Amino acid sequence: MPSVEITLSTEEGSLDPYDLFPESVEEIWLEIGFGAGEHLTQQAITNPTVGFIGCEPFINGVARLLANVSENNMSNVRIFRDDARLLMRAIPDQCIERTFVLFPDPWPKTRHHKRRIVCPETIESLCRLMPVGSEFRIATDDRSYKEWILQYMLAAEGFKWRAQRPSDWRTRPDDWPETRYERKAHAAGRQCSYFMFDRCS
Ligand SMILES: C[S@@+](CC[C@H](N)C(=O)[O-])C[C@H]1O[C@@H](n2cnc3c(N)ncnc32)[C@H](O)[C@@H]1O
Repeated sequence: MPSVEITLSTEEGSLDPYDLFPESVEEIWLEIGFGAGEHLTQQAITNPTVGFIGCEPFINGVARLLANVSENNMSNVRIFRDDARLLMRAIPDQCIERTFVLFPDPWPKTRHHKRRIVCPETIESLCRLMPVGSEFRIATDDRSYKEWILQYMLAAEGFKWRAQRPSDWRTRPDDWPETRYERKAHAAGRQCSYFMFDRCS
């Protein structure tokens, strides 16, 4: 863990993500709430020139990702084991080329909706962190959260939904590895939605 863990200093915007990796990386991709890390692991193996930052406070998930990092001898993964929003505050502008939020906790009760990670504050942070042309991917199996995501993302001037037809969000793209939570959702017969948004000016 010490060799892959990200620790924060107190100064906002002071963490250069390119400095986190031993070898130079071409881009930085961020996964918020990686769970057991299946998606992050596959993406990091497929894209060895990309530096991956995974955020996850769930310790068992961190342990699983660590095992994958070790087994596959991966040097392009770094882990922040706390609330992703703390890390995002520490990263300077325009550094993140791709962000994933896959099956975020749905917080179904109306009084808990304010805990949802997809919200105007997160979208504003990502507008700051992501340059024009970068990509934000979100998945959910929760109908209410799906509508919530579209409501806030379609209202966000900094992002444009890429979908042209229903199959664009109903079918997982080939370069989007499956997650454990997604497998459970499909086994339970729930429809999953896969949203891709382009950062625009
Ligand atoms: C429903 S699980 C999905 C996990 C994984 N993405 C998957 O699809 O299997 C949501 C995960 O997001 C994590 N999470 C929730 N809020 C978070 C935050 N603010 N920062 C980082 N991770 C968070 C939780 O600990 C949990 O593991």
